[in-house]
Parts: sequence; C-alpha cells; structure tokens
Amino acid sequence: MCGIVCYVGRKPAKPILLEGLKRLEYRGYDSAGLAVQDGETIHCERAVGKIVELERRVNGLEMKGTVGIAHTRWATHGRPSEENAHPQRDRDENVFVIHNGIIENYHVLKKKLEKDGIVFRSETDTEVLAHLIALHFDGDLSDAVRKTMAQVEGTFGIGVIHRQTPGQIVVARRGSPLIIGVSDDGHFVASDVSAMVRYTNKVVHLEENELATVTADGFSISTAQAKPVQRSTETVEWRAEDAELNGFPHFMLKEIYEQPAALENAIRGRLEQGEGVPKLGGIMPVWESLKQSRHMVLVACGTSYYAASVGKYIFERLTEIDTEVGLASEFRYRKLNFPPNTFVVAISQSGETADTLAAIKEAKRKGARLIGVVNVVGSSISRETEAGIYNHAGPEIGVASTKNFTSQLTILTLLALLLGRHQNLSLTEGIQAIRALEALPGLIHKALAQANHIEAVSEKYCRCTNWLFLGRKYNYPIALEGALKLKEVSYIHAEGYAAGEMKHGPIALINPEMPTVAIIPLDEMHEKMLSNIHEIKSRKGPVIAIATEGDEKVRDVADDIIEIPPTLDFLYPILTVIPCQLLAYYCAKFLNRDIDKPRNLAKSVTVE
Ligand code: G6P
Repeated sequence: MCGIVCYVGRKPAKPILLEGLKRLEYRGYDSAGLAVQDGETIHCERAVGKIVELERRVNGLEMKGTVGIAHTRWATHGRPSEENAHPQRDRDENVFVIHNGIIENYHVLKKKLEKDGIVFRSETDTEVLAHLIALHFDGDLSDAVRKTMAQVEGTFGIGVIHRQTPGQIVVARRGSPLIIGVSDDGHFVASDVSAMVRYTNKVVHLEENELATVTADGFSISTAQAKPVQRSTETVEWRAEDAELNGFPHFMLKEIYEQPAALENAIRGRLEQGEGVPKLGGIMPVWESLKQSRHMVLVACGTSYYAASVGKYIFERLTEIDTEVGLASEFRYRKLNFPPNTFVVAISQSGETADTLAAIKEAKRKGARLIGVVNVVGSSISRETEAGIYNHAGPEIGVASTKNFTSQLTILTLLALLLGRHQNLSLTEGIQAIRALEALPGLIHKALAQANHIEAVSEKYCRCTNWLFLGRKYNYPIALEGALKLKEVSYIHAEGYAAGEMKHGPIALINPEMPTVAIIPLDEMHEKMLSNIHEIKSRKGPVIAIATEGDEKVRDVADDIIEIPPTLDFLYPILTVIPCQLLAYYCAKFLNRDIDKPRNLAKSVTVE
C-alpha cells in the first residue's frame, strides 16, 4: 500500500528519491517523506498530501548526500500527518526508518519502551522499529535490524539508515516486497520496480525474512539467522516509458487504450491453431496433475476477483472441471475441504495482495496445488505458487484496474481451453476459440472507437447519484465490475446485480433519476435481458444498453446504446467491460475526480 524507495550511490540522492516516489505514488498518497545522509548528517523532511507537497518543501533546501531513503504513505496506524509520515526516527535521531506493512505487536513493544522512558512522537507502529534498532545498535546496523526483526510480529519491508554508519542502507522484509536494483551509479531498493526502471532493469528480489546491507558498490544478503545468501540478478522486461503517460491525461485512460496490446502480449506465442490447443509453458511443472484435476478454485480480490468470477463460467463452458470462485479475504474463515488434486488459482495483478497471499498459504496447508495468474514478474504470489502464467500486460499504474482485467480474462480462457481440449472440447471448438481470441485485439479497437459517444453518454448521466448495472451469466461479473469501476473513480454509488435478481429488490429503486447499464450482448441471455430492460422502462428508469452492433430490438427500447462488435459468447466480457471502463472514466472526468489516485484507495493492498 505504501511505497519505499532507497538509493545509495554516486549521484545526489534527493532527485532520485523524489522521482522514485512519484512513480510509486499510486501505491499510497496521503503523506510522504525522505531522509538524505551526508556523512554523519541526516536531513529528513516530511509532508502531508501528495508527493508535490514534499517536493515543494525540499526544493529550495540543500540536501547533500548520495544516500537516502524515502516513503509514500497510505495511513493504517495514525492519521495522515507530518509526525506520522515516514521516515520515523529514534529519540536521538540516529536511526531513520521507512516501513511498509503492519507491526502487529507494536502495542506491547510500545508499552515496554515507554516504561523505559521513551517518549513517542507519532501514532505509528513504525516508530517502535526506530527505537528498537537504536537500542540494539552497537556499531553494526544489520545486526541491530536482525535483533529487531526477531522481536516484531507482523509484516514489514523496511529501509534503515544510521548516523554512525554512513554509506550504507539496511533493508529487510517479511511479507512486504523489496527489490534491490543494480546500476553503474549505485544501488536502489524499492517496494516496486517502477520506482527504479528509469535507472536500471537489473534487479534482485529479497525473499521472506531476509535482510540486505546495500552500499554504492555492492550488497550482501543474509537470512534472519545471519546465514549469507547468494542471489544473481534478474532482468525486468518493463521499460521506463511503459510507466509514463505518453500524452494521455491519465494512466487509467492510457491503460484502457493499451488493452489491444495487452491482449496481444497475453496470447503471443501461446496460440496454436492447428490443434486448437494453447501452449502455456509456465504451467508445465504441474501439467501431469493439472490435466487430471476435476476441482479448481479461483481466488482473488477486487477487480481480479471479478475476472475470477467470469473465469468460473468460462471453465464450466470449456472444461469438465468443477470450478469454484473465492474472495481471498473470506477464504481463511471457511472450512476448506479440497478433494484430492484440487488446484487453487491465485489471480493478482500485483502478485502482492495480502489476502490473496494468505489464501494460497492456507490452501497449501490444506493440501491444494497452487497456480498463479500474475502480472508482476517475481512478485510474492508468483514465488509462492508452484507454476503460473504471467500476463505480460506491462505496468498498471492507474489505481482502478483495467487492462489487467481483460488480460486476466484472456489468460483464464487460454487455461480453460487448454484443459478443455484435453477433456471433451472438440477440435472444431478449439480452433474456433483460438480464431476468436486472435481477433479480439482488433475488436477491442472497435469498442474503443465508441469513446466519444461514451463520453457524451457519461456527460448526460454523471450527475445521477445512483446507478445500477445488470448482466447475466458471463456478463453478470461484468455488471459487478462496471459498478465497482464507477464507484472507485467517480465516487458515484453503483450496484451490480445479476439481472435475474432485479425483481428481488433493486427494482424498488428504479426511477427517472437512476440509470441502469444493461449488459446485453447477443448471446443466449439476450431475450431475458430484454425483458429486464422492459421492466425498467415501464418504471421510467433510463437504460444505457451495452449491446452487439446492429441489435435492433435493443435499439427500440434503450435510451442510449453503446455498441460492441460480435464475438463468441464466453469472450463477450472482454468487450462488454470496455464501455463500462470508459463510462467510469468519463463520469469521473466530468466530476473532476482524481482519476488515477481515487481517495482512500491504493493500487496494491499489502495489508489485510
Ligand atoms: C486493489 C486495487 C484494485 C485491485 C485489487 C486486487 O484494491 O485498487 O484495482 O483489483 O487491489 O489487486 P491485485 O493486485 O491482487 O490484482
């Protein structure tokens, strides 16, 4: 949720840290801070609000030093304030700490420290770390951090500097990701590669319960038990320009428009028409068991959960596998009873969502096999799972997920198709599906060509304070996702419903002020959806229909139509979601919302 960036090298640290923070701002943005070290002097500045506030604060200041740590915060313990922002420091201002995660036993530790006369200056759990490290310090910073790690419970990714150990940063992780970046000008440490892709694409991932001492010339990794660890660098495929606006006003819009390319990346090298069987190298390690499996559980959070929910219908359509879908945050409260050879598929853009990670750990404990569908290469979920499929969708910066959703649907379709072809799905159906998948990027372009019309529709309805989204079968989760998108970025209240449930409640809300987005492609649900639209119209509710081009029946009854091109029934969600994304985007734009950084939301939810 929060973002960490550290630098130790040969260049001035301040501009590098500010630039890194801006790239991480999508992870948290209620306050920020940095500390730059020059010999035994450490200059720390913090500010409430977005990174520009911090930038304003430090712009005129001379902050010499080529070593520094920086943090952008999404408050968990303590309101957003300068005192609660990171870096946090100890009483004597020797130790400066930035921290992602939550120290669960901080109350107990704080009480003990207070008893020993330490006065706390913030309401954060992080301050405990600063005091403990200072108390343990006897000349060796990594040793002091290691001793502190042994005392704390919970999750952390931390970066620490000490006045008496100039030229080094000690970092450590448990539950919160940290990545070391290697460049000719020095070393970086960040919670997310996007903070450093401008400078390097050579990275080393820190594993659970490891710490590292990083200097301008090198780094050494060790375990919590002080055992040295050797790890070679990996090359990341993301380029700096992938994480830039490139002329778009917002990342959300840019990423909506990147969907044809993201889909091409998801299918590239994976489609083989001849046999109608996709190739998915990443799942080969578990293939023998997977192809025998008859039980699958798709787990995820947020938008990824709605991708999982569409996935369930696609698996039911293409395979013989009993497929369940689970909200990761609820998973561990359930009495999990997996039949033998059950595969749990974790779906996550970031690969770091705390609840999804916890869900797969629990599933593993109960004997399930694990697969990941993840966008961020090398992320925690990709490491915890036995095998997986990467999205290769490129960095997604807008907090509201868009291109990753359609990419996830594509990957789930490929997986279902592969399994289906080893079960009862015919060659003809396999080839037909592959042809339709290949055509999708072009069809998304067509759907995007409706943007001006969707903008006009959004302008017409954006002042309505309640919206309803309806869909059936494959498009029921799209109704949920459409409502979620609208809520997230425009703050308009919206509900997504299975259209068949409308008579059981939501119909009571229908009035001329409440628009309904009816997702009604030409599939087997068409007639039923049409009846729902008639029911809404007879109660004077405005209807915006997302319909297949040329659908005259819908044209006769809906107030506004947004057309999408035809495709196979189970692929429609990849097209029907595009107008939903654009409606949310344009409504937010007309309402002057902070589209890429909606209030209270964070891109990556790394705490439970
Ligand atoms: C947050 C983001 C959502 C995202 C969800 C799951 O809530 O704001 O956009 O869908 O986390 O994230 P994941 O990285 O696991 O897909």
